[in-house]
Amino acid sequence: MCGIIGYVGRSQALPVLVQGIRLLSYRGYDSAGVAVHDGTTLRIEKDRGRISDLAPRWDPATLAGSTGIGHTRWATHGAPNRVNAHPQSDAANVVAVVHNGILENDLALREELEKAGVTFRSDTDTEVFAHLFARDGGKDPVAAARELLDRCHGHFALAFVHADHPERIVAVRRGSPLLLGLGVRENLVASDLRALAGRADAVVELGDDQIAIVEADDVRVLDKSGSDVEVVRRPVEEHERETDKAGFAHFMAKEIHEQPERQYELVHGRMDTVRGHARFDDLPLQAADWKRIERVDLVACGTAYHACLYGAYALERLARIPARALMAHEYDARQPRLDDRTLVIAVSQSGETADTKVAVELALREKARTLAVLNVPHSAIGRLVEGVVDMHAGPEVGVASTKAYTGMLTSLLLLALAAAEARGTTNDEARELIAALDAVPDAIRRTLARTEGVVADVVREIYRAGNMLYLGRGPDAATALEGALKMKEISYIHAEGYPAGEMKHGPIALVSFDMPTVAIATAGPWRDRMLGNVREVKARDGLVVLLAAEGDVDAPKVADFVLPVPSLPPLLAPIVNVVPLQVLAYETAKRRGCDIDQPRNLAKTVTVQ
Ligand code: AGP
Repeated sequence: MCGIIGYVGRSQALPVLVQGIRLLSYRGYDSAGVAVHDGTTLRIEKDRGRISDLAPRWDPATLAGSTGIGHTRWATHGAPNRVNAHPQSDAANVVAVVHNGILENDLALREELEKAGVTFRSDTDTEVFAHLFARDGGKDPVAAARELLDRCHGHFALAFVHADHPERIVAVRRGSPLLLGLGVRENLVASDLRALAGRADAVVELGDDQIAIVEADDVRVLDKSGSDVEVVRRPVEEHERETDKAGFAHFMAKEIHEQPERQYELVHGRMDTVRGHARFDDLPLQAADWKRIERVDLVACGTAYHACLYGAYALERLARIPARALMAHEYDARQPRLDDRTLVIAVSQSGETADTKVAVELALREKARTLAVLNVPHSAIGRLVEGVVDMHAGPEVGVASTKAYTGMLTSLLLLALAAAEARGTTNDEARELIAALDAVPDAIRRTLARTEGVVADVVREIYRAGNMLYLGRGPDAATALEGALKMKEISYIHAEGYPAGEMKHGPIALVSFDMPTVAIATAGPWRDRMLGNVREVKARDGLVVLLAAEGDVDAPKVADFVLPVPSLPPLLAPIVNVVPLQVLAYETAKRRGCDIDQPRNLAKTVTVQ
């Protein structure tokens, strides 16, 4: 969604705000703006466009001051233009505010304020907050913030600066994430850790319905009643300070190439390689609990949903538990029958996806058991569930998820292995998987090295395509869906993923010479049937790009291009098979001149339903 940043300290605020906006712009980048208190008045600069174009126009002499707030926007209410850009302010510029989230009763409040003589200038819901806070924010900021919590519905993370208080930022949080960054004689507020860019030594997660009064040498946190609450600091870990591309052209490229190391760390952090079992002693689900579970619902959106499709396979095949993957935003529509014999597992890179959070809240209301597989354990979803499996992918900045996806797959596989052991269903397939897990990091490295040339050839053939088809079977049906999502979200080519068995039931009508098909036919029980599908496509003049096991002598006979991947057990293969599809999407998008890390219309974290 949007990103907010605030700074109060001894340095000039503007450069800190600009850097923070840059680091947050993956959350939304329609427009950006800053408000700086110059000691006398509030100065606001904002416009449509990206921070890289806007920042050079902002004059440090005009925007001089050590207290300020900044914002980068993904438009929800009001078109992306200068008037609707944040910070929003009241007519007299007494208050400036930046906001992430949605004020659901904005129309009623707007009407009430207009009747009281307020003139609105923007189409945003955010401007309502500015007018409400302007009334009392100067003489009693806590009372003003409490009034917002009483009267405003929806979810919002807010940061205010008031003209009468050059030394202070007031932050309010309900639902949308908001962190306080604690530094040396300076403090910050931000939508997430990355924006603190190494300036903060510790962070405080502002809780729901909490208020923070942030000054250079002091931070107070209060609850909705106005009572002080304990400020719980968490040290910032070294890897959390990471903010650059490490020499790669895009964050997505860096994150694709980080996958071997992340996989190695994840597996070695969870596997007891001596006794050959996955350790989840930190979870509240132990053997007796797993034995009581009669069904697992995996809920997520987008890429994380594809991981759930894979996870359902792994749990059903290995732990013999009925398991289903569900799109989180469709969960409540089913009115699912839940109780304490159902385990709901939420999967989310950010831990802030509103649709997934709502699905977890439903599970909790229905007394189901809950876990989450997250890349950000200290997130909204992480705070709701009974236990969190950290996928340890490290900060993922590219809007198109890559290393988090493979982190989700491996985490879900390890969880399924642990559940199998708890339920006494560990079979030969499970033992083969445990033995082969160590091979995954090198298999990814080999795949990246051996497919680079073929991918370049394929890109030359397909980059002008208008449509593409991705086909896979079994757990690789999820890989097909994920490969298609990567291609569509960064190259803007319409790409559809299908379980290959579906071809004869409709999609084959689409096959023609100008619609490339990517098929996954690596080792396993589905290979021969996949090659049958490939022949059906070729018989209709379709171009075929085939993912096949290294040394598969039939593959070059049936396909136009072959992407070789190491042979792995069928439930491990998807972790590696998705990698060449990530690279194919990346290279195609680059050839098409698309914005890879910040694709149009998208945002990294969708904190609205
Ligand atoms: C994936 O490439 C997309 N950016 C998107 O589908 C994403 O997976 C989805 O919005 C879920 O996000 P989450 O994992 O943070 O919950």
